[in-house]
Amino acid sequence: MKRGFDTIAILDFGSQYTQLIARRVRESHVFSEIFPHDVKAREILKKRPKGIILSGGPASVRFSKSPRCDREIFNLGIPILGICYGMQLMSKTFGGGVEKAKRREYGYARLKVKAKNPLLSGLVGKTQVWMSHGDEVTKLPARFRIIGYTKNSPIASMEQKDKKLYGVQFHPEVVHTEDGKKIIKNFILKICGAKGNWTMTSFVREAAANIKKETGKGKVMLALSGGVDSSVLSVLLRRAVKERLTCIFVNNGLLRAGESERIVEVFKRHYHINLRCVDAEEGFLGALKDVVDPEKKRKIIGREFIRVFEKEAKRLGGIKFLAQGTLYPDLIESRSSFGGPSATIKTHHNVGGLPARMKLRLIEPFKYLFKDEVRLVGRELGLPDEIIHRQPFPGPGLAVRIIGKVTKYRLDILRKADKIVIEEIKRKDLYRDIWQSFAVLLPIKTVGVMGDERTYENVIAIRAVKSLDGMTADWVRLPQDLLAGVSSRIINEVRGVNRVVYDISSKPPSTIEWE
Ligand code: XMP
Repeated sequence: MKRGFDTIAILDFGSQYTQLIARRVRESHVFSEIFPHDVKAREILKKRPKGIILSGGPASVRFSKSPRCDREIFNLGIPILGICYGMQLMSKTFGGGVEKAKRREYGYARLKVKAKNPLLSGLVGKTQVWMSHGDEVTKLPARFRIIGYTKNSPIASMEQKDKKLYGVQFHPEVVHTEDGKKIIKNFILKICGAKGNWTMTSFVREAAANIKKETGKGKVMLALSGGVDSSVLSVLLRRAVKERLTCIFVNNGLLRAGESERIVEVFKRHYHINLRCVDAEEGFLGALKDVVDPEKKRKIIGREFIRVFEKEAKRLGGIKFLAQGTLYPDLIESRSSFGGPSATIKTHHNVGGLPARMKLRLIEPFKYLFKDEVRLVGRELGLPDEIIHRQPFPGPGLAVRIIGKVTKYRLDILRKADKIVIEEIKRKDLYRDIWQSFAVLLPIKTVGVMGDERTYENVIAIRAVKSLDGMTADWVRLPQDLLAGVSSRIINEVRGVNRVVYDISSKPPSTIEWE
């Protein structure tokens, strides 16, 4: 990919903050890319980075098996900033001393700048920094000097001016470090000399040009779900390849109320995108008949999706490219050098099985972006807030929010209840503050009384969670009057429901979706 902007390479030693470093760099309008810690120096060179940041990590450089980087990286003549573990590794590499800290330091500390230097320039007095380390640099490597210290860390920051090597024991990437942004900016702009010209405008321009070049005259297909990523991608692709794009929208019968109509209105009428709406409700519901096991549901839905796409691609003929809204966190997770394969909690289906079988080439223009950056791209492309700020919706749709058998009757109950939840949350202006809010249909019936009659009907559970990335989540303390309003509306307006409960569990140990 041709790039008209500077890059900072980040080597990942397994810190929980690595992605945060990448984001901080990008906030200074410099592109950043994360690499596994053991990437070869020649691979790094191919990207022509202006600077390299070594992340923190949970290991200790005192042990020989701990993660190292290619030593050649220190000979490239590119400025390097080591953060925490990264600084300790730098120290060790150049013959300095690293020892177990007498007291593991975790939390706030006050940093004092010791000598005039470009990394900590502009910091005044004692500035608050965030520490989280078990080891510390106890002896400076030759030709390094101390540039900052705290009460417990005499070598909290160090510099080797000629080679432009810098280290910080604390974490400038976290918000608790008062001048963290300034320090990162100092490194990438002043020390590395990167140009801060990476903006969403430049991203959109370059991405469109690259897609145009890559696809030539070939036809492109995109599975449009109506979620943020595929919606933004469809508009970007429309700009890049015009009529050669066809979006496939599958009504699998598991969608929320009014979804199909909305998609046609927005994408076909407004953006003039070639849109194929495939009504596959019968096929999906038929395949799901009597299925209760959550994993089986997911696998069946994934398989049905692939079947539909294959059929559509064949029908359209000559499709060469499949576009996907893969995001950076998905990419990093799948190539992470740490953690190893994690247990399958839930099978997240996507159309990933397609290209291998059909020999389609993948186009993933967002594979280096974070979710909020995709939203900015959407804004740049003029998409309305209503689309850009939609809450996530799982691929298997309402099937994983109906516990037990999935039938048309039960789907209709859930759709009506879900619509009320969303309407009421929007009415209170809480929609954008909440990661996800929805209704779940339980597989039990309970007794109630309506008028003078005994009822024996379904239970709806309400779920609302706050989260940053869906990996962890906390249940939202929704106002009681809102809950009361939702409950009363659902019981009055949705036939077949006589009880509403609120889910007060966080993730972990619960998951966001019930299945
Ligand atoms: P869980 O339920 O695992 O969900 O806590 C975490 C986030 O992922 C979404 N989710 C899915 N998204 N396909 C998707 O595209 C799936 O199969 C799927 N399952 C869960 C869920 O809505 C939440 O945002």
